[in-house]
Amino acid sequence: MAKINKNSNVKVKGLEGIIAGQTNISFIDGLKGRLFYRGYSIEDIAENCTFEEVSYLLIYGKLPNKNELKNFSTTLKRKRALPKHTIRMLHTFTKNMSSMEALRTVVSSLSSNDKDSRISSYEEKLDTGLSIIAKMPTIVAYHYRIKNSKTPIPPNPKLSHAENFLYMLTGKIPDSEGAEVLDKDFVLHAEHGFNASSFSVRVTVSTLSDVHSAYTTGIGTLKGPLHGGAATEVLLMLKNIKKPENVSSYVNKIILSHGRVMGYGHRIYKVYDPRAKILKKMAENLSAKNNNTTYVEIGQKLEHMMSDKKNIYPNVDFYSAIVYHNLNLTHELYSPIFAIARSSGWLAHILEQYKNNRLIRPLEEYTGNLNLKFIPISKRK
Ligand code: CMC
Repeated sequence: MAKINKNSNVKVKGLEGIIAGQTNISFIDGLKGRLFYRGYSIEDIAENCTFEEVSYLLIYGKLPNKNELKNFSTTLKRKRALPKHTIRMLHTFTKNMSSMEALRTVVSSLSSNDKDSRISSYEEKLDTGLSIIAKMPTIVAYHYRIKNSKTPIPPNPKLSHAENFLYMLTGKIPDSEGAEVLDKDFVLHAEHGFNASSFSVRVTVSTLSDVHSAYTTGIGTLKGPLHGGAATEVLLMLKNIKKPENVSSYVNKIILSHGRVMGYGHRIYKVYDPRAKILKKMAENLSAKNNNTTYVEIGQKLEHMMSDKKNIYPNVDFYSAIVYHNLNLTHELYSPIFAIARSSGWLAHILEQYKNNRLIRPLEEYTGNLNLKFIPISKRK
Protein backbone atom coordinates (compact mmCIF):
# COMPACT_ATOMS: atom_id res chain seq x y z
CA MET A 1 0.00 0.00 0.00
CA ALA A 2 1.27 3.47 -0.89
CA LYS A 3 2.55 5.65 1.94
CA ILE A 4 0.43 8.69 2.67
CA ASN A 5 2.26 11.83 1.66
CA LYS A 6 0.55 15.10 2.47
CA ASN A 7 1.95 16.67 -0.73
CA SER A 8 0.69 13.88 -3.02
CA ASN A 9 -2.85 13.56 -4.40
CA VAL A 10 -3.53 10.62 -2.08
CA LYS A 11 -6.59 11.30 0.09
CA VAL A 12 -7.13 9.15 3.15
CA LYS A 13 -10.89 9.48 3.03
CA GLY A 14 -12.29 6.76 0.77
CA LEU A 15 -8.71 5.55 0.01
CA GLU A 16 -8.70 7.81 -3.04
CA GLY A 17 -5.49 7.61 -5.04
CA ILE A 18 -4.11 4.70 -2.99
CA ILE A 19 -2.79 1.62 -4.80
CA ALA A 20 -4.05 -1.22 -2.62
CA GLY A 21 -2.56 -4.16 -4.53
CA GLN A 22 -1.60 -5.51 -7.94
CA THR A 23 -3.82 -7.17 -10.52
CA ASN A 24 -3.66 -8.65 -14.02
CA ILE A 25 -7.42 -8.70 -14.49
CA SER A 26 -8.35 -5.26 -15.78
CA PHE A 27 -6.75 -1.88 -16.45
CA ILE A 28 -8.59 1.43 -16.19
CA ASP A 29 -7.23 4.71 -17.53
CA GLY A 30 -9.50 7.23 -15.84
CA LEU A 31 -8.06 10.25 -17.60
CA LYS A 32 -8.37 8.84 -21.10
CA GLY A 33 -11.58 6.91 -20.47
CA ARG A 34 -10.11 3.52 -21.39
CA LEU A 35 -10.85 0.08 -19.97
CA PHE A 36 -9.16 -3.23 -20.78
CA TYR A 37 -10.10 -6.76 -19.66
CA ARG A 38 -6.92 -8.88 -19.54
CA GLY A 39 -5.38 -6.50 -22.09
CA TYR A 40 -8.31 -6.35 -24.55
CA SER A 41 -10.17 -3.04 -24.98
CA ILE A 42 -13.73 -2.95 -23.70
CA GLU A 43 -14.86 -1.78 -27.15
CA ASP A 44 -13.45 -4.93 -28.81
CA ILE A 45 -14.76 -7.14 -26.04
CA ALA A 46 -18.27 -5.67 -26.12
CA GLU A 47 -18.41 -5.94 -29.90
CA ASN A 48 -17.16 -9.51 -30.17
CA CYS A 49 -17.63 -11.52 -26.96
CA THR A 50 -20.49 -13.18 -25.16
CA PHE A 51 -20.73 -13.12 -21.38
CA GLU A 52 -19.58 -16.74 -21.20
CA GLU A 53 -16.50 -15.91 -23.31
CA VAL A 54 -15.67 -12.87 -21.18
CA SER A 55 -16.14 -14.84 -17.98
CA TYR A 56 -13.67 -17.43 -19.25
CA LEU A 57 -11.22 -14.65 -20.18
CA LEU A 58 -11.48 -13.04 -16.74
CA ILE A 59 -11.29 -16.28 -14.77
CA TYR A 60 -8.66 -18.19 -16.78
CA GLY A 61 -6.70 -15.19 -18.08
CA LYS A 62 -7.02 -16.02 -21.80
CA LEU A 63 -9.68 -16.10 -24.49
CA PRO A 64 -11.12 -19.61 -24.84
CA ASN A 65 -10.89 -21.64 -28.03
CA LYS A 66 -14.13 -23.18 -29.36
CA ASN A 67 -13.79 -26.35 -27.34
CA GLU A 68 -12.88 -24.55 -24.12
CA LEU A 69 -15.84 -22.21 -24.51
CA LYS A 70 -18.20 -25.11 -25.18
CA ASN A 71 -17.01 -27.00 -22.08
CA PHE A 72 -17.15 -23.85 -19.95
CA SER A 73 -20.70 -23.00 -21.08
CA THR A 74 -21.79 -26.60 -20.47
CA THR A 75 -20.30 -26.50 -16.96
CA LEU A 76 -22.27 -23.35 -16.14
CA LYS A 77 -25.48 -24.85 -17.57
CA ARG A 78 -25.05 -28.01 -15.47
CA LYS A 79 -24.69 -25.96 -12.29
CA ARG A 80 -27.73 -23.68 -12.77
CA ALA A 81 -30.31 -25.67 -10.80
CA LEU A 82 -30.92 -24.83 -7.14
CA PRO A 83 -30.98 -27.50 -4.41
CA LYS A 84 -34.51 -28.34 -3.18
CA HIS A 85 -33.87 -26.90 0.28
CA THR A 86 -32.79 -23.60 -1.31
CA ILE A 87 -36.06 -23.39 -3.24
CA ARG A 88 -37.95 -24.10 -0.01
CA MET A 89 -35.99 -21.34 1.67
CA LEU A 90 -36.92 -18.84 -1.07
CA HIS A 91 -40.59 -19.59 -0.36
CA THR A 92 -40.10 -18.56 3.28
CA PHE A 93 -38.91 -15.01 2.51
CA THR A 94 -41.32 -12.17 3.28
CA LYS A 95 -42.58 -9.93 0.47
CA ASN A 96 -40.53 -7.10 1.98
CA MET A 97 -37.26 -8.81 1.14
CA SER A 98 -35.54 -7.14 -1.81
CA SER A 99 -33.91 -9.10 -4.61
CA MET A 100 -30.43 -8.14 -3.41
CA GLU A 101 -31.22 -9.22 0.15
CA ALA A 102 -32.54 -12.54 -1.13
CA LEU A 103 -29.51 -13.02 -3.39
CA ARG A 104 -27.07 -12.23 -0.57
CA THR A 105 -28.85 -14.59 1.83
CA VAL A 106 -29.21 -17.49 -0.60
CA VAL A 107 -25.64 -17.29 -1.90
CA SER A 108 -24.43 -17.41 1.68
CA SER A 109 -26.65 -20.41 2.46
CA LEU A 110 -25.35 -22.38 -0.54
CA SER A 111 -22.17 -23.12 1.40
CA SER A 112 -24.09 -25.83 3.24
CA ASN A 113 -24.44 -27.62 -0.09
CA ASP A 114 -21.03 -26.99 -1.65
CA LYS A 115 -18.99 -27.86 1.47
CA ASP A 116 -16.88 -24.85 0.51
CA SER A 117 -15.64 -24.01 4.00
CA ARG A 118 -14.04 -27.43 4.36
CA ILE A 119 -12.18 -27.45 1.03
CA SER A 120 -8.94 -25.85 0.14
CA SER A 121 -7.59 -26.66 -3.34
CA TYR A 122 -7.50 -24.01 -6.03
CA GLU A 123 -9.59 -26.21 -8.38
CA GLU A 124 -12.28 -26.70 -5.74
CA LYS A 125 -12.45 -22.96 -5.09
CA LEU A 126 -12.76 -22.39 -8.84
CA ASP A 127 -15.52 -25.00 -9.00
CA THR A 128 -17.41 -23.35 -6.13
CA GLY A 129 -17.12 -19.96 -7.83
CA LEU A 130 -18.47 -21.36 -11.11
CA SER A 131 -21.35 -22.92 -9.22
CA ILE A 132 -22.25 -19.54 -7.68
CA ILE A 133 -21.95 -17.73 -11.05
CA ALA A 134 -24.24 -20.33 -12.64
CA LYS A 135 -26.83 -20.17 -9.83
CA MET A 136 -27.10 -16.41 -9.32
CA PRO A 137 -29.53 -15.82 -12.24
CA THR A 138 -31.64 -18.75 -11.03
CA ILE A 139 -31.80 -17.32 -7.50
CA VAL A 140 -32.81 -13.87 -8.75
CA ALA A 141 -35.44 -15.20 -11.17
CA TYR A 142 -36.92 -17.69 -8.66
CA HIS A 143 -37.10 -15.02 -5.96
CA TYR A 144 -38.70 -12.55 -8.40
CA ARG A 145 -41.37 -15.03 -9.46
CA ILE A 146 -42.11 -16.34 -5.96
CA LYS A 147 -42.38 -12.77 -4.63
CA ASN A 148 -44.85 -11.98 -7.40
CA SER A 149 -46.89 -15.14 -6.65
CA LYS A 150 -45.77 -16.91 -9.82
CA THR A 151 -44.40 -20.43 -10.20
CA PRO A 152 -40.59 -20.50 -10.61
CA ILE A 153 -39.38 -21.63 -14.03
CA PRO A 154 -36.47 -24.11 -14.02
CA PRO A 155 -33.39 -23.23 -16.11
CA ASN A 156 -33.36 -24.24 -19.77
CA PRO A 157 -30.03 -25.86 -20.78
CA LYS A 158 -30.56 -24.97 -24.43
CA LEU A 159 -30.24 -21.25 -23.64
CA SER A 160 -27.23 -19.01 -22.99
CA HIS A 161 -26.66 -17.34 -19.62
CA ALA A 162 -28.47 -14.11 -20.65
CA GLU A 163 -31.24 -15.87 -22.61
CA ASN A 164 -31.91 -18.28 -19.79
CA PHE A 165 -32.14 -15.49 -17.21
CA LEU A 166 -34.79 -13.68 -19.27
CA TYR A 167 -36.57 -16.99 -19.85
CA MET A 168 -36.66 -17.82 -16.13
CA LEU A 169 -38.05 -14.35 -15.38
CA THR A 170 -40.81 -14.37 -17.99
CA GLY A 171 -41.40 -17.97 -19.03
CA LYS A 172 -40.92 -16.95 -22.67
CA ILE A 173 -37.92 -17.67 -24.88
CA PRO A 174 -36.57 -14.13 -25.38
CA ASP A 175 -36.19 -12.62 -28.84
CA SER A 176 -32.60 -12.60 -30.01
CA GLU A 177 -32.29 -8.79 -29.79
CA GLY A 178 -33.34 -8.59 -26.13
CA ALA A 179 -31.02 -11.43 -25.18
CA GLU A 180 -28.10 -9.88 -27.10
CA VAL A 181 -28.63 -6.54 -25.38
CA LEU A 182 -28.65 -8.13 -21.93
CA ASP A 183 -25.63 -10.26 -22.81
CA LYS A 184 -23.68 -7.13 -23.84
CA ASP A 185 -24.79 -5.41 -20.66
CA PHE A 186 -23.44 -8.38 -18.63
CA VAL A 187 -20.15 -8.08 -20.53
CA LEU A 188 -19.86 -4.36 -19.76
CA HIS A 189 -20.51 -4.91 -16.04
CA ALA A 190 -18.35 -8.01 -15.60
CA GLU A 191 -15.19 -6.43 -14.22
CA HIS A 192 -13.79 -3.09 -13.08
CA GLY A 193 -10.54 -3.25 -11.11
CA PHE A 194 -10.57 -2.57 -7.37
CA ASN A 195 -14.15 -1.24 -7.28
CA ALA A 196 -15.71 -1.40 -3.80
CA SER A 197 -17.31 -4.84 -4.16
CA SER A 198 -14.32 -6.53 -5.81
CA PHE A 199 -12.02 -5.01 -3.22
CA SER A 200 -14.28 -6.24 -0.41
CA VAL A 201 -14.24 -9.71 -1.96
CA ARG A 202 -10.44 -9.63 -1.89
CA VAL A 203 -10.38 -8.47 1.73
CA THR A 204 -12.57 -11.43 2.72
CA VAL A 205 -10.43 -13.90 0.79
CA SER A 206 -7.23 -12.43 2.24
CA THR A 207 -8.21 -13.81 5.67
CA LEU A 208 -8.37 -17.24 3.96
CA SER A 209 -12.12 -17.24 4.40
CA ASP A 210 -14.22 -19.25 1.92
CA VAL A 211 -15.61 -18.47 -1.53
CA HIS A 212 -19.25 -18.20 -0.38
CA SER A 213 -18.25 -15.65 2.25
CA ALA A 214 -16.42 -13.65 -0.42
CA TYR A 215 -19.49 -13.59 -2.70
CA THR A 216 -21.73 -12.68 0.23
CA THR A 217 -19.43 -9.75 1.03
CA GLY A 218 -19.39 -8.71 -2.61
CA ILE A 219 -23.17 -8.73 -2.99
CA GLY A 220 -23.60 -6.77 0.25
CA THR A 221 -21.10 -4.15 -0.90
CA LEU A 222 -22.50 -3.88 -4.41
CA LYS A 223 -26.00 -3.29 -3.07
CA GLY A 224 -25.41 0.31 -1.93
CA PRO A 225 -26.68 3.21 -4.07
CA LEU A 226 -23.18 4.66 -4.53
CA HIS A 227 -22.21 1.38 -6.27
CA GLY A 228 -24.47 -1.24 -7.89
CA GLY A 229 -27.62 0.15 -6.33
CA ALA A 230 -27.30 3.27 -8.47
CA ALA A 231 -29.16 1.97 -11.56
CA THR A 232 -32.34 1.42 -9.55
CA GLU A 233 -32.03 4.97 -8.21
CA VAL A 234 -31.49 6.24 -11.78
CA LEU A 235 -34.84 4.88 -12.88
CA LEU A 236 -36.61 6.35 -9.86
CA MET A 237 -34.92 9.68 -10.64
CA LEU A 238 -36.00 9.57 -14.30
CA LYS A 239 -39.57 8.80 -13.21
CA ASN A 240 -39.39 11.74 -10.85
CA ILE A 241 -38.00 14.15 -13.50
CA LYS A 242 -40.75 12.94 -15.90
CA LYS A 243 -39.86 15.15 -18.92
CA PRO A 244 -36.84 16.93 -20.40
CA GLU A 245 -38.24 20.39 -19.52
CA ASN A 246 -37.87 19.52 -15.80
CA VAL A 247 -34.16 18.65 -15.96
CA SER A 248 -32.84 22.13 -15.33
CA SER A 249 -34.75 22.75 -12.10
CA TYR A 250 -34.01 19.19 -10.92
CA VAL A 251 -30.25 19.55 -11.40
CA ASN A 252 -30.15 23.03 -9.86
CA LYS A 253 -31.98 21.76 -6.80
CA ILE A 254 -29.59 18.80 -6.43
CA ILE A 255 -26.52 20.97 -6.78
CA LEU A 256 -27.82 23.55 -4.28
CA SER A 257 -28.52 20.83 -1.72
CA HIS A 258 -25.14 19.10 -2.37
CA GLY A 259 -27.08 16.01 -3.43
CA ARG A 260 -26.23 13.43 -6.10
CA VAL A 261 -27.51 12.98 -9.62
CA MET A 262 -27.66 9.20 -9.75
CA GLY A 263 -25.70 7.46 -12.50
CA TYR A 264 -23.29 10.38 -12.73
CA GLY A 265 -19.71 10.75 -11.52
CA HIS A 266 -16.99 8.19 -10.90
CA ARG A 267 -14.02 7.88 -8.60
CA ILE A 268 -11.66 6.82 -11.40
CA TYR A 269 -13.09 8.25 -14.65
CA LYS A 270 -12.57 11.98 -14.94
CA VAL A 271 -13.91 11.81 -18.52
CA TYR A 272 -16.78 9.87 -20.13
CA ASP A 273 -16.99 6.27 -18.85
CA PRO A 274 -16.25 4.08 -21.93
CA ARG A 275 -18.94 1.59 -20.85
CA ALA A 276 -21.51 4.39 -20.66
CA LYS A 277 -20.69 5.36 -24.27
CA ILE A 278 -21.60 1.86 -25.46
CA LEU A 279 -24.68 1.64 -23.24
CA LYS A 280 -25.85 5.05 -24.42
CA LYS A 281 -25.99 3.79 -28.02
CA MET A 282 -27.85 0.68 -26.88
CA ALA A 283 -30.33 2.82 -24.91
CA GLU A 284 -30.88 5.15 -27.87
CA ASN A 285 -31.50 2.27 -30.29
CA LEU A 286 -33.90 0.47 -27.97
CA SER A 287 -35.80 3.65 -27.07
CA ALA A 288 -36.21 4.58 -30.73
CA LYS A 289 -37.43 1.08 -31.52
CA ASN A 290 -39.89 1.20 -28.63
CA ASN A 291 -40.99 4.67 -29.69
CA ASN A 292 -40.38 6.08 -26.23
CA THR A 293 -37.39 8.40 -26.17
CA THR A 294 -38.32 10.52 -23.13
CA TYR A 295 -35.66 9.07 -20.80
CA VAL A 296 -32.96 9.32 -23.46
CA GLU A 297 -33.91 12.97 -24.01
CA ILE A 298 -33.78 13.60 -20.26
CA GLY A 299 -30.34 11.91 -20.36
CA GLN A 300 -29.10 14.31 -23.07
CA LYS A 301 -30.16 17.32 -21.04
CA LEU A 302 -28.66 15.93 -17.85
CA GLU A 303 -25.38 15.30 -19.69
CA HIS A 304 -25.16 18.90 -20.87
CA MET A 305 -25.96 20.37 -17.49
CA MET A 306 -23.72 18.06 -15.48
CA SER A 307 -20.72 18.56 -17.76
CA ASP A 308 -21.23 22.36 -17.81
CA LYS A 309 -21.83 22.81 -14.10
CA LYS A 310 -19.76 20.04 -12.51
CA ASN A 311 -17.57 18.55 -15.24
CA ILE A 312 -19.15 15.19 -14.41
CA TYR A 313 -20.30 12.53 -16.90
CA PRO A 314 -22.65 9.54 -16.87
CA ASN A 315 -21.26 6.31 -15.46
CA VAL A 316 -22.13 2.71 -16.36
CA ASP A 317 -25.32 2.80 -14.29
CA PHE A 318 -27.07 5.70 -16.02
CA TYR A 319 -27.74 4.28 -19.47
CA SER A 320 -27.98 0.70 -18.23
CA ALA A 321 -31.09 1.77 -16.30
CA ILE A 322 -32.65 3.02 -19.56
CA VAL A 323 -31.62 -0.19 -21.31
CA TYR A 324 -33.27 -2.37 -18.61
CA HIS A 325 -36.37 -0.20 -18.66
CA ASN A 326 -36.65 -0.77 -22.41
CA LEU A 327 -36.29 -4.50 -21.86
CA ASN A 328 -39.36 -4.25 -19.59
CA LEU A 329 -37.34 -5.17 -16.53
CA THR A 330 -38.61 -3.83 -13.22
CA HIS A 331 -36.21 -1.52 -11.34
CA GLU A 332 -35.86 -3.95 -8.44
CA LEU A 333 -33.89 -6.25 -10.73
CA TYR A 334 -31.27 -3.70 -11.79
CA SER A 335 -28.80 -4.26 -8.93
CA PRO A 336 -29.14 -8.08 -9.07
CA ILE A 337 -28.41 -7.88 -12.81
CA PHE A 338 -25.21 -6.00 -11.97
CA ALA A 339 -24.37 -8.69 -9.40
CA ILE A 340 -25.01 -11.49 -11.90
CA ALA A 341 -22.64 -9.80 -14.34
CA ARG A 342 -19.95 -8.91 -11.77
CA SER A 343 -19.92 -12.47 -10.42
CA SER A 344 -17.30 -13.52 -12.97
CA GLY A 345 -15.06 -10.54 -12.16
CA TRP A 346 -15.40 -11.41 -8.47
CA LEU A 347 -14.24 -14.95 -9.12
CA ALA A 348 -11.22 -13.66 -11.03
CA HIS A 349 -10.35 -11.46 -8.02
CA ILE A 350 -10.97 -14.28 -5.53
CA LEU A 351 -8.59 -16.60 -7.40
CA GLU A 352 -5.96 -13.90 -7.97
CA GLN A 353 -6.00 -13.02 -4.27
CA TYR A 354 -5.78 -16.67 -3.14
CA LYS A 355 -2.87 -17.30 -5.53
CA ASN A 356 -0.71 -14.53 -4.13
CA ASN A 357 -2.25 -13.84 -0.76
CA ARG A 358 -1.27 -11.56 2.05
CA LEU A 359 -3.75 -10.39 4.69
CA ILE A 360 -5.24 -7.02 3.68
CA ARG A 361 -5.03 -4.89 6.78
CA PRO A 362 -4.35 -1.17 6.28
CA LEU A 363 -3.45 1.41 8.91
CA GLU A 364 -5.92 3.84 10.34
CA GLU A 365 -5.34 7.40 11.46
CA TYR A 366 -6.78 7.67 14.98
CA THR A 367 -8.63 10.94 15.60
CA GLY A 368 -10.21 10.22 19.00
CA ASN A 369 -9.23 10.91 22.64
CA LEU A 370 -6.52 9.22 24.70
CA ASN A 371 -5.89 8.77 28.41
CA LEU A 372 -9.46 9.63 29.49
CA LYS A 373 -10.18 9.15 33.18
CA PHE A 374 -12.50 6.11 33.64
CA ILE A 375 -15.85 6.97 35.26
CA PRO A 376 -17.71 4.15 37.08
CA ILE A 377 -21.29 3.63 35.80
CA SER A 378 -22.79 4.86 39.09
CA LYS A 379 -21.17 8.24 38.58
CA ARG A 380 -21.95 8.73 34.87
CA LYS A 381 -24.48 11.41 33.99
N1 CMC B 1 -24.00 14.33 -8.62
C1 CMC B 1 -23.64 15.55 -8.21
N2 CMC B 1 -22.40 15.86 -7.80
C2 CMC B 1 -21.51 14.86 -7.81
C3 CMC B 1 -21.83 13.56 -8.24
C4 CMC B 1 -23.14 13.33 -8.65
N3 CMC B 1 -23.51 12.11 -9.06
N4 CMC B 1 -20.72 12.78 -8.15
C5 CMC B 1 -19.75 13.55 -7.68
N5 CMC B 1 -20.22 14.81 -7.47
C6 CMC B 1 -19.47 15.97 -7.02
C7 CMC B 1 -19.45 16.09 -5.52
O1 CMC B 1 -20.53 16.81 -5.03
C8 CMC B 1 -18.15 16.79 -5.30
O2 CMC B 1 -18.32 18.15 -5.65
P1 CMC B 1 -17.55 19.32 -4.85
O3 CMC B 1 -16.10 19.00 -4.96
O4 CMC B 1 -17.99 20.54 -5.54
O5 CMC B 1 -18.06 19.17 -3.44
C9 CMC B 1 -17.25 16.18 -6.36
O6 CMC B 1 -18.10 15.78 -7.41
C10 CMC B 1 -16.45 14.97 -5.90
O7 CMC B 1 -17.34 14.07 -5.28
P2 CMC B 1 -16.88 12.86 -4.38
O8 CMC B 1 -18.04 12.37 -3.59
O9 CMC B 1 -15.63 13.20 -3.62
O10 CMC B 1 -16.48 11.80 -5.47
P3 CMC B 1 -16.23 10.28 -5.21
O11 CMC B 1 -15.12 9.86 -6.06
O12 CMC B 1 -16.10 9.98 -3.77
O13 CMC B 1 -17.63 9.65 -5.67
C11 CMC B 1 -19.31 8.42 -6.69
C12 CMC B 1 -17.81 8.77 -6.68
C13 CMC B 1 -19.58 7.40 -7.77
C14 CMC B 1 -19.67 7.80 -5.34
C15 CMC B 1 -20.14 9.70 -6.93
O14 CMC B 1 -19.82 10.24 -8.18
C16 CMC B 1 -21.62 9.47 -6.78
O15 CMC B 1 -22.15 9.52 -5.65
N6 CMC B 1 -22.36 9.21 -7.92
C17 CMC B 1 -23.77 8.92 -7.85
C18 CMC B 1 -23.98 7.44 -7.52
C19 CMC B 1 -23.61 6.56 -8.69
O16 CMC B 1 -23.98 6.82 -9.82
N7 CMC B 1 -22.89 5.47 -8.40
C20 CMC B 1 -22.44 4.51 -9.41
C21 CMC B 1 -20.97 4.57 -9.58
S1 CMC B 1 -20.33 3.82 -11.08
C22 CMC B 1 -20.71 2.18 -11.04
C23 CMC B 1 -20.27 1.45 -9.85
O17 CMC B 1 -19.10 1.42 -9.51
O18 CMC B 1 -21.14 0.87 -9.22
